[in-house]
Amino acid sequence: MSRTDKLEFCNLIDNIINNDNFKALDNELHHGISRYDHSIRVAKVTYFVGKRLHLKKLDETVKAAVLHDYYLDKDLAAYNSKQKLRKHPDLACSNAIKDFKVGEFEQNIIKTHMFPICNELPKYKESYLVSLMDKGVAAYEMYKFKFSLVFTVWALFIFNMITLQK
Ligand SMILES: [Fe+2]
Ligand SMILES: [Fe+2]
Repeated sequence: MSRTDKLEFCNLIDNIINNDNFKALDNELHHGISRYDHSIRVAKVTYFVGKRLHLKKLDETVKAAVLHDYYLDKDLAAYNSKQKLRKHPDLACSNAIKDFKVGEFEQNIIKTHMFPICNELPKYKESYLVSLMDKGVAAYEMYKFKFSLVFTVWALFIFNMITLQK
């Protein structure tokens, strides 16, 4: 990403990522990292791809991307993991409306980011884009998390073998 793009991207998400309620996502575990970092990563790849696709509503799309998982686990504690997959986009959307007054366009992107597991259908190409970017980022983060988990277990095993031999 060029310096100008980086600056433009930071300006787009600045007021959201510095909001105290949004900062609470930094304490939520998500794919082995914080939900705060995951949300920024999804927004960043959305910006990168959206810019190259010359999206007319790039600002709103990036805003929706950074807010796509704007929820806290405690608010979904009553549901099992499968139910959470379907429930969290709607919760993220109502939180985004409450704190950032997002419009109908952003709402559809947030609500449908788990497509095809969602309560309404994506209406915009930008909805499909964010859904796709989220899946790509999630796969990358899960892979990295599992790799570092396996690596840590192996490192501990080898460390124990070496120390036991002494
Ligand atoms: Fe999500
Ligand atoms: Fe996500």
